[in-house]
Amino acid sequence: MITDTKEFVKRVDDAADFLRTAVAGNTLPSICIVLGSGLGPLASMVDVIKEISYKDIPGFPVSTAPGHKGSLIFGTLEGKNVFLMNGRFHYYEGYPMETVTFYVRVMGRLGVKALLLTNASGGINLDMKVPELVAITDHLSFNAEPVLRGPNIEEFGTRFPDQCHVYDPELTDTLVNCARDLKIRISRGVYAYSKGPQYETPAEIRALRILGADCVGMSTVPEAIAASHMGIRVAAMSCITNMAAGITGQALSEQEVLDNAALASENSCALVKEFVKRINL
Ligand code: HPA
Repeated sequence: MITDTKEFVKRVDDAADFLRTAVAGNTLPSICIVLGSGLGPLASMVDVIKEISYKDIPGFPVSTAPGHKGSLIFGTLEGKNVFLMNGRFHYYEGYPMETVTFYVRVMGRLGVKALLLTNASGGINLDMKVPELVAITDHLSFNAEPVLRGPNIEEFGTRFPDQCHVYDPELTDTLVNCARDLKIRISRGVYAYSKGPQYETPAEIRALRILGADCVGMSTVPEAIAASHMGIRVAAMSCITNMAAGITGQALSEQEVLDNAALASENSCALVKEFVKRINL
């Protein structure tokens, strides 16, 4: 938890200054895209101007999750400047929530206006088919470590932020419309946050279904909360890489997640490209 807010803001601003210098001479992006498990191939869509390893950015942690590369790409996509986070940070890796969301704070200070979060998730809604895509419209995070706990940083946002529109309705509609126009199957759904790293139990999945969840995963929610706290508009796209625990009778595995994310990567790439092309920020 953050105790010294001045020191934390300075750390965020030092990282922002570092990136401002790194991309000097170019217009800073308005959009940041975050690649989830198995979605690394999306990085190849971007015309790279500069690739910066997380270990070289002051204050950034390193990402240790499988399928997460660990570099920030500054480049262009559909003629627009973008930041692309090739790998993210998870609570299950041992990082506190302010570290998991550190990059979001940095993006906010750099003036990024929209964050497109992608992830892999387990399907809870029985109508879902692997490896379809879901536009996340809302989330459940009752059991999560609260991201905004501790003294509020007024420069970032308000103490008690409303959570009715964490996922920007207009950007979410754009995501869904892009998929429809590209003839890519997509549904809208509620994402349940699971702290991990163990997958859920079948009983947990049955409970989450009763509570209204359509899919479950171990990322995205902390970042979405931090971003909306700062007024960054969020869109989130999930790839259903497996049916959640207890549904098929098969054990869940990381390999299944990565294999199915790879199967969806052509659709995911096409959708992300079209989304970036269409949005006006
Ligand atoms: N549960 C949690 N996280 C996941 C899953 C799952 O079933 N699939 C991909 N990420």
